Formats: sequence, C-alpha cells, structure tokens
Amino acid sequence: MCGIVGYVGRRSCAGLLVDALKTLEYRGYDSAGVAFFHDGIIETVKAAGRIQNLESKMESRIDVETHCGIGHTRWATHGGPTDENAHPHSSEHISLLHNGIIENYQELKAFLIEKGYTFLSQTDTETAAHLMDYYYKETGDFLEAVIRALHEIRGTYAFGIICKDEPGKIICVRQENPLLLGLGEGENFMASDIPAFIKYTKKYLVMEPGEIAILEADRVSLVDFDKNPIEKEPLVVTWDYEAAEKGGYPHFMLKEIHETPSCLRATMSPRVQDGLVRFDEKELPDHLLRDARSITILACGSAMHAGMVTKYGIEKLCRVKVDVEVASEFRGRPPLLTKDDLVIVISQSGETLDTLAALKMARACGAKILSIVNVVGSSIARESDYVVYTWTGPEIAVATTKAYSAQIAISYMIAARMAFVKGLMSEEALRDFTAELMMLPELVASLVERESEFRALAEQYCKYEDLFFLGRCLDYAASLEGSLKLKEISYIHSEAYAAGELKHGTISLITDDVPVIGLVTQTPLMEKMVSNLREVTARNARVMAICAPQAKDLLEFVDDLVVLPAARDELMPSLSVIPLQLISYHIAALRGCDIDKPRNLAKSVTVE
Ligand code: F6R
Repeated sequence: MCGIVGYVGRRSCAGLLVDALKTLEYRGYDSAGVAFFHDGIIETVKAAGRIQNLESKMESRIDVETHCGIGHTRWATHGGPTDENAHPHSSEHISLLHNGIIENYQELKAFLIEKGYTFLSQTDTETAAHLMDYYYKETGDFLEAVIRALHEIRGTYAFGIICKDEPGKIICVRQENPLLLGLGEGENFMASDIPAFIKYTKKYLVMEPGEIAILEADRVSLVDFDKNPIEKEPLVVTWDYEAAEKGGYPHFMLKEIHETPSCLRATMSPRVQDGLVRFDEKELPDHLLRDARSITILACGSAMHAGMVTKYGIEKLCRVKVDVEVASEFRGRPPLLTKDDLVIVISQSGETLDTLAALKMARACGAKILSIVNVVGSSIARESDYVVYTWTGPEIAVATTKAYSAQIAISYMIAARMAFVKGLMSEEALRDFTAELMMLPELVASLVERESEFRALAEQYCKYEDLFFLGRCLDYAASLEGSLKLKEISYIHSEAYAAGELKHGTISLITDDVPVIGLVTQTPLMEKMVSNLREVTARNARVMAICAPQAKDLLEFVDDLVVLPAARDELMPSLSVIPLQLISYHIAALRGCDIDKPRNLAKSVTVE
C-alpha cells in the first residue's frame, strides 16, 4: 500500500520519478504525486486517480532540469483520494511523502494550528510536514528537525523528505513500512520496492525500523534516531529487470501464472538432496519439525488459504494438530501459545501488517517462528527464527498466483520432511514422494498449456453475478483460493463452501442463475462430492467439475468437466489452482476488469 520513490543524481529525474511510480502501481493506490527541485524552489504536482492523470499534469514539466525529487502513490486512509490529499505534502521549507499512519496526528495538528500552521488536506501526513518545518525553523538543521519530529510522531511510517534549503539531499526514514535504498554510481534511489530502481542498479540496502538515511548523489549515510552512525553491507538483486516487465503478456497476472512451473522448480530444487526433501539446517532444522507437537499457522488472504493446504498436508502425513488463524483475528484475542508451539507464518510480501503483528504476539509467547516468505529481507523474514524463501522473483499482479503455488509446494515439503523425521514416513516413501513432487512443474506446465480450454469455459461463466465453489478437505482449501481469485479480479460475488455444509442452509441460494464449480480430487471423498454435485444439478445449477482422472467417469452428468493430470491426493491443490486461476483471469478479462490492479486492493497490505 502506497509506493515511495526518490532520486538524487546526475540524470534529470522528473520523468524517471513518474516511471518509477509506474513500477509500484501494483501496490495499490488512488492518487499520485511528485515534488522536485527546479530553479531554487520545490515544484509539486499531484493528481487523484491513476498515474496517467499525474502524467498529463506533468506534460510541460517532464523535461525540466531537476536532479533530485520524490514521488508517491497514495492508498487513501485519512481523507479521500483527492489532489489535495495526495502526497507529497509541503510546509514552508519541507516537502515529504509518507507510507503508514500517524496515530497521534490530531494532537499534533492542534499544536501546529496553535503555532499558526494552515492545513490544506485531511491527511495525517500533512502534520509531519508542518512539524518538521516547525523544528527546522527552530534549529536551522534539516536532520535535527526530522529527528525531533520523529520523537513526537506515534504510528507506522516510512518517510521521504526534502528541504528547500538543501537541494540534492533526501532524508529517508523507516519505522514499520518498508523502504529500500538503490545504490548507483553518482546517483542513489529510495523506493518501497526493487522494481522502482532495478533498471538503474542491482545494489541496494534494506532499511531497518529505526533507521534514517541521508541520500545524496555520491554518498549514502545511515544513522539511528540518536544520530549514531550505522554501517551495513549492500545486497544484490538476484533477478533481472525483465522479471518486473510484462514480457509481451497483456497482464502481469497471466505472465505470473505462466511462470509458475519455473518458480516451482526454483523453489523446490534447492530443497532436494539425493532424491529426498531436505532443508538447509539454517533455514529449517530437522529438530524443529521432529519436536513440533502442535502448530499454528498465521497468515492473511491467499497466504491463509495456503495455510489451509499446509494444515491438511501436515495433519494427514504427520498426525500433528494444526490450527490456521487469520492473522487479524488472532490479534483480537489473548494468544494461547507457549514456548512449545511452532508457529508457521506465510506471506508473499513479508510486510502484511496484521501478519507481522500476529507474528510478534506469537513470539512474545515464546513460540518458535518459521516463516514462508517471498521477499528477501522483508520484515516478517527478519522477525522469524527460521525462514524458508519461495524463489518466485517479484510478483507484481495484486492477485497472487505463482507465489501461492510456491507456498503450497513448500508446505508439501515441510509436511513430508516432518513425517520423515518423526519416523512416520520411510526413506523409500519420502523418495517416492519427492519424485512425485518434482513432477509438479511439468504437470503444472501441461495445465498452463491448456489455457484456451479454460478461456472457453470463462466465456460460459462470465455472464453470471454469483457463483459457488465446493470442495471437501483439501479441495475445500483449494475452493477458498479459487473463490477469492474470482471475486477479487472479476468482481463477481462467489462463495467457497465445504461441500457437506451446503445443505445446512446455503443450498437455498442455488438456482439456474448460480453456477457451481466443484473440485473432486480427493480419492476417499469422491463419491460424497459427486452426490453434492448431483444435489446442485437437481436445483438446476450449471455445474463445472475440476477433477482427478479417476473421478471422470463419475461426473458424466456435469455441464463442464476439467480433468487434471494424475498426482497423489496431497499434491492436487497445485494442479486444481491453475484452471481456477486461468478461468478467473479470463472471466475478468472478458468483463473488461483492471486485472493487475483490481479496485480498492493493494499488493502489500500495510494498514490494519
Ligand atoms: C489475493 C492476495 C491476498 C494476499 C494477502 C496476504 O490474491 O494476494 O489475499 O494473499 O493480502 O499478502 P501476503 O502474502 O503478502 O502477506
């Protein structure tokens, strides 16, 4: 949520800032703005709506000579998405942008109004600009003014700040919200995420909470809130600029679905040795799995659905009880965890605020934290005792696809390794399991190749306004993800239901206007699922079944049938998700939706 960019260096940067903002569009936003030094003043341009609106307003400014500036995409929290509320916000000497929420802004605002400041927006952020200006006037020192203000601001934040009297300098501050520094030759960058600067440099620093960076063209220095210097080693991005580009696909979401087979290989291969699933001792030691008596999984959204898949896998193979908790719900009650509990945190971005806060609560109880994360060095990764990374590269589309697939692949590996170290799976059985696991990229690729079949189905289902997804156990977990995918990108209302539960109330909603997508991949549950699908057929619903090959003959009565390749039951969620994603994608495309940036959504949810 919100994207921050900043540049200082030899290039003229007005256009660069706008282009950098475009690379962060996926984070979700509803207004955008830039501020840059030109002819001894700070010029600010802001526009509600898409970056294209900002670009139109910038038309006459895009080529002006400027070598230092900041830019922002805002996801509205305090005050609607208007030009006035867009960032950067300015005071007499200071302009700044902000990602996060200033909790005590009303108190600060009252103080500043008393001191004669006038507010032009409804945002919490404007108070920070005036407060820093207030201290700048008092001290005449840019850094000191920022630090004094920080000592008074309560809340979550990343800031990018410039001062009228110091062109060529950006002060960057990180508390909760992510902020990276891209390190170039004679130029430096500030950004919420790597795609904003990968075109120019692969060398970067991850700012940690409580750090302040002073960014100039030829130097970057870091201090803490007491001005103590901080030294850190730069990291190097392991993927290329092209990974953050659409590469000929109409949408990032489609590109990312097509990348799933290679992401699965990249994620699984390093964790297989001599034909057996084995994690590096540092990322996940065997003793952690062997000693696990009960597990709690914390996550949000699709990552929580990946947690459901993890639960079924671990409970089936390891006979260990697993609770899956929506992170925001977990936070709402006193945690019942102890130092004997293992907590698995799942997050693509590694920055989801509720998940991070839930992790910290679990940690405070003494529980051991294992996280499954995609973004290296992210907050969740840093707060965990052990991290297993999903190696998918950047995921740009708001709706997760390849990262979800990588998360569930890791979950099978954890379940299998746990069963092995607990003595519940022999080495031979683990070898067979591993061999089947390593077939997944190929099986997934065979499904991605069937895209035209799924597009044809999308044409049949895109006209409906309500839809049901049904499944039992692992298929129920997969249904939850299918339903979320459809609703978030196509805006069609859908429900995922445990199939056996439907007749306890909800079947009253089934009519010929409410089609049903049933998942039938779990061998022991097939007959029951077939009965459930017959029940909805009898209520005139159009029915699509997505099934394992052995269920095909039982399902001749359904209207549409997708037969998946054969795989063991535990691995079927990796296969069923591909048609679910592609059907949702094509339904959304047929309905003309903004697929990569669905309305109201953000890729990285850093507010509560
Ligand atoms: C849906 C989706 C979201 C995320 C959720 C958690 O397609 O992407 O539901 O799964 O916001 O995000 P992470 O995994 O970054 O913690």
